[in-house]
Amino acid sequence: MDIALSNKVDVEASRLDVMNFLNEMASDFPDAISFVSGRPTEKIFDLGNWINGVHDFAQHYADRHGTDVGTAMRMLSQYGRTNGIINDLIALQVEKDERITCKGKQVLVTAGCQEAMDLCVKTFCRDPGDVLLVRSPTYIGITGAASLNDVEIAAFSCDREDEVLHALKEKVHGLELEGKCPKALYLVPEFDNPTGEVLSRQTRESIISFCASKRILILEDNPYGMFRFEGTRTLPMYVLDRHGCVVYLGTYSKTVCPTVRIGFAIVPEVLFDGAVSGGVLVDRLSQAKSFSAVNTSQINQAVIGGVLLAEECSLKRIVEPTLAIYRCNRDAMIEALSREFLGFDQQVTWNCPQGGFFLSVLLPFKFEHSEAQVCAEEYGVLVMPMSFFALDDGQNYRVRFAYSNVTPEQIREGMARFAAYVKYRIASVDAAFEVYCQ
Ligand SMILES: Cc1ncc(COP(=O)(O)O)c(C=O)c1O
Repeated sequence: MDIALSNKVDVEASRLDVMNFLNEMASDFPDAISFVSGRPTEKIFDLGNWINGVHDFAQHYADRHGTDVGTAMRMLSQYGRTNGIINDLIALQVEKDERITCKGKQVLVTAGCQEAMDLCVKTFCRDPGDVLLVRSPTYIGITGAASLNDVEIAAFSCDREDEVLHALKEKVHGLELEGKCPKALYLVPEFDNPTGEVLSRQTRESIISFCASKRILILEDNPYGMFRFEGTRTLPMYVLDRHGCVVYLGTYSKTVCPTVRIGFAIVPEVLFDGAVSGGVLVDRLSQAKSFSAVNTSQINQAVIGGVLLAEECSLKRIVEPTLAIYRCNRDAMIEALSREFLGFDQQVTWNCPQGGFFLSVLLPFKFEHSEAQVCAEEYGVLVMPMSFFALDDGQNYRVRFAYSNVTPEQIREGMARFAAYVKYRIASVDAAFEVYCQ
């Protein structure tokens, strides 16, 4: 194997190993307080009730197919339609909750959003030279899916939002000069994982215009959009798109529960100002799915179908109590940061997102694998280096904190532990500097 190839393999292997590393740390240090996982709070899970809703969904299914509930139950027990059986309900839900207008035939139901990402990557970037664009840092689910499908990833990075378009254009221009073909751009515009950032309407619109002009599909991933605590919501890129270049990716993992593994992709009816039919793209996604998962579990779709019927196709009522929990946790985390790092405001800074599950902290020293290990082993706190999500060296000083699945008490205690480590490191650097100056 030549050196360039072996380096590529090493980088990809270490990216793909991140989840193992974190799982191992969590099992090696079970008493540590963990800010690692973006799991939703379990407090609202109501699985028993939701499973009972399967009967209501079966009735709905029976009515639509002109049959009885017993037959509907048997049909639900069979292999099913590759594209899904709750597509119309999903179309109604995104209309009510996200202002997205679409038809059921534009929706492909998937085993979580992760499968939707995998299918998009392998379907849209399938020719030699095809490239997936991402902004670094980004969600590891997409980079992992691209790596495992042997799709080249091209990352661009920029610290400020007003630099995003320029950085994207430069990257695309560079790829074109190399004879490569950027086919898709993955973004989490609302409460990004890992940074917690939101893209403004202006940035969203300018990215859409540019991508439409270059025939680049935007994969808009929006798992956290319904979790806004304050401020006004920006419309999804799918809604702002007038050209047909945004494919919307959704999931019920955070709004209902992850165990059902139900997500979806919504493809515009016509793509790139009419140049391509969206139906063709749905068929290609469906074909890829038919040879991997065959179809999404119908019983799991029936659980979500039952929830959607019971909630009249809006998840606002279910999400409402979680907003209070996440807001309270976000506040506890910001308070803990302000308290613990009082007097360190030149050295340690953080963002304060108006929603979502994550925030990020910038440190005056590098924070990577070994630092995360020391925090776990010696300080009893698990945190996620931002470099785990990065495709360049630009994120080595940042740390991601998830506040979604911890209590305010754990946040206070965990942040005190993390701050003890950070202050120890700052003091050691200061002491070393004094010795050096003597
Ligand atoms: C940005 C983002 N996209 C997708 C997912 C995965 O969603 P699912 O559970 O539907 O596969 C997550 C999960 O954490 C996520 O943070």
